[in-house]
Amino acid sequence: MDRIRIRGGRRLNGTIPIAGAKNATLPLMIASLLTDETLVLENVPRLADVTLLQHILGNHGVDITVSGKRAGEDDHYGQTMQLSAKNIVDTTAPYHLVTKMRASFWVIGPLVARMRQARVSMPGGCAIGTRPVDFHLDALRALGANIDIESGYVLASAPNGLRGARVHFPKVSVGATHTALMAASLARGETVIENAAREPEIVDVADCLRKMGAKIEGAGTSTIHIQGTERLGAARHRVLPDRIETGTYAMAVAMTGGDVTLAGSRADLLQSALDVLRQAGVEIAETNEGLRVQRNGAGLGAVEVSTAPFPGFPTDLQAQLMALMSRASGTSHITETIFENRFMHVQELVRLGAKIHLDGETATIEGVERLKGAPVMATDLRASVSLVIAGLAAEGETVVHRVYHLDRGFERLEEKLAACGAEIDRVAG
Ligand code: UD1
Repeated sequence: MDRIRIRGGRRLNGTIPIAGAKNATLPLMIASLLTDETLVLENVPRLADVTLLQHILGNHGVDITVSGKRAGEDDHYGQTMQLSAKNIVDTTAPYHLVTKMRASFWVIGPLVARMRQARVSMPGGCAIGTRPVDFHLDALRALGANIDIESGYVLASAPNGLRGARVHFPKVSVGATHTALMAASLARGETVIENAAREPEIVDVADCLRKMGAKIEGAGTSTIHIQGTERLGAARHRVLPDRIETGTYAMAVAMTGGDVTLAGSRADLLQSALDVLRQAGVEIAETNEGLRVQRNGAGLGAVEVSTAPFPGFPTDLQAQLMALMSRASGTSHITETIFENRFMHVQELVRLGAKIHLDGETATIEGVERLKGAPVMATDLRASVSLVIAGLAAEGETVVHRVYHLDRGFERLEEKLAACGAEIDRVAG
């Protein structure tokens, strides 16, 4: 298994190209199941999760071709992917594929809406707490699907097609909002989704669905109206920039000091995280290219942060912020309100010398002057990148094991950081 080796202490200077958002790419690829015409996605990131979803969709019969960057284009324009679900040959998403990536469960919405049936494995356990799918199933039930659970599989059927309905979520869920949005696009009549997730990735998927012919209003607010249509057609859509990758590199620069432009990123996608960084003493400016992040040698201030659904501080940046605050002057508090048990990185950060105390869902971080390199273990996607951020500032060598977690969500991480002066490389095997 590959490892990432870092020698800490280098400042970061230069430009980092920001890739297309993983969390938009996955549902956009899944949306291809809604039409028998071709969906073209541009700016698709090169990630293990994207490759895995290609396998999963391929299993349903989706033809997928991928082309790299065109001559003269910069690296960060990503790949162009053509997906054609002309013939769906199989409506089962099997256990061995769905357990590898939770988001693959989301095929259930488009499959039942278009094919009137789906058999999708329950996703099973996950390193960041129990992540049930009850909201997805309640939404599909509201739209008229029959739902049975049998031998670990959800069987969804709607012999006469789905019909529009009121879908009210008791708690904000990104995935369940995607499910309801995609399913309702092909349902008869009007659907109103209440307490919908407002994440930029929801807006991006709604934009793409609209290009495919769906009638959607209110995406990006808590109430989304969808007027169902009988069929959806071809479209071409460019994936929005990854706000989590942006925030992660912004925190890396905040950690090491330096001056880096995050090319292609947009401030409006992560305002709350940028506010927290500014409060800690980081300079951030919007430029024509993207975002410029600067920190001189001065110490970082401590912060108080709670994760929250968009537009709040994203849970996907919580681990990275904790790494950063481990070297702030003063005591920070970070409360995780979205996922229980999303503190797997704490013990590993402590191995690097961080002083962190956990009490329920709140972590108290007492800033220390220096971290010291050590071997550490990646436990999930966001946790693993927090260890990289800590390693960039730690004295001596840090080796992050199990980096396959990183490859799920970060494209060429070590290359991007090395190009800005970090001493970081990948050790194969
Ligand atoms: C998505 C993101 C993930 C991010 C998360 C929260 C993708 C591919 N993943 O995950 O990176 O961390 O949003 O911003 O976009 N819940 C239920 N029942 C359900 C569904 C969710 O109780 O049926 C709960 C979850 O356990 C969690 C909360 O709702 O406590 C929010 O989860 P959700 O927004 O659904 O996360 P995902 O869509 O899985």
